[in-house]
Amino acid sequence: MSVFDLVARDLETRGDPLYRIADIRAADPLAADALLAALPEMNRDADVTALTVALRTLLPEPGRIAEWSVVEALAAMRDIGMLLGSLKRHGTEPLDAVPEALPVLAELGRRTDMVPRDTVHHYTTWNPLDARQRMYTGEPMEAGLQDAVRMVFPSLVASLDTCAELAALEPYERGFAHALDRTARHVQAMVDSIDFTVANVSPVFFAQVLRPYFEEISVDGRDHLGPAAAQVPLWLVDLTLWQSDRSDSRYDAFLAESVPYSLPQWRAFHAAHAGGTSAVSKLSAAISWEQVDRLPPELAASAVSLARVLRTLKTFRARHIGIARKAYSEEVRLYDVGSGGAPVELLRAVLDLTRENETLVRRATERPRTPVA
Ligand code: HEM
Repeated sequence: MSVFDLVARDLETRGDPLYRIADIRAADPLAADALLAALPEMNRDADVTALTVALRTLLPEPGRIAEWSVVEALAAMRDIGMLLGSLKRHGTEPLDAVPEALPVLAELGRRTDMVPRDTVHHYTTWNPLDARQRMYTGEPMEAGLQDAVRMVFPSLVASLDTCAELAALEPYERGFAHALDRTARHVQAMVDSIDFTVANVSPVFFAQVLRPYFEEISVDGRDHLGPAAAQVPLWLVDLTLWQSDRSDSRYDAFLAESVPYSLPQWRAFHAAHAGGTSAVSKLSAAISWEQVDRLPPELAASAVSLARVLRTLKTFRARHIGIARKAYSEEVRLYDVGSGGAPVELLRAVLDLTRENETLVRRATERPRTPVA
């Protein structure tokens, strides 16, 4: 069994319905399987009339949502969401075309304690894997992008535990390095994911075929972003490592917009750790920089482990910006900003911040050290 399967199985045992991935994938409370199998064809034909009828057909009777479990409510939002993004892609604001969807979205958002539309988690992690897989286009590259995001969900959830542990420790404690080493293994999934994306999804396909399905829609007068990979919460890790007190206004603004699209537990994690002292700041304060070549062994181990996880974050970001630049180059792009609402320059700013923090910590690991007597 792979590490992914082990972590995924561990999540299932936690009792949070949002982590019952297999059950959510299996659920079909709107009996939408057959209709959504025809979605790629409707999209290929840009058949707005068929999409509008399909959205109306899927909407549940008032009162039914109250009978559903959270698992079923998540699956229903996933399926309705496929039609929201499709209508918008063809230039129709979905709630203008089908206003009766508004109370349904509001109620599904309330029942699941999430935003009143589908998110990247509905579109990927909670999407079935077999013939029931929901896709806008049915193209292998779309399945590739969905798989790339699916691969990171269990690892990022697991990093919540290791980061919470880290936040409660000081760099001179042995557990600090250990929590970082486990976090580094989780973040490696992001690197694997972007390598998989580069190998399986062309930037032109992303930019010109998929990206238009991820546009924002208006719900009750407010714009809500589409199911963008940018909502993958790598910020969960940044937050405790460096972001809580070493960020800048651009990344802060991006996070303020992204956090609401995440799961309730993750939002709680954000609220608990925002403004706290980050691991980099703790280490930096604990080190006497004039004597950096004579660090006590625990501090030296903490510095090595912190530098390692920051390097892994940097590797993800450097490879990710490569594909993002190609997809948003002038010759290729259809939109100036990403589906998460920010331009490629944001990625540069976050990469620079990650690199600055890694460089600072690396300074504590590079000098030859003589053990303290
Ligand atoms: C063709 C593939 C991709 C392109 C063109 C792309 C492009 C972008 C762009 C332009 C942004 C800036 C924010 C925004 O979208 O508004 C962004 C952010 C982000 N993307 Fe992607 N992306 C791709 C795939 C992925 C994948 C597969 C993942 C992870 C599984 C991912 C994770 C992220 C994250 C975490 C951010 C937030 C910024 C950061 O933490 O560095 N992206 N992406």
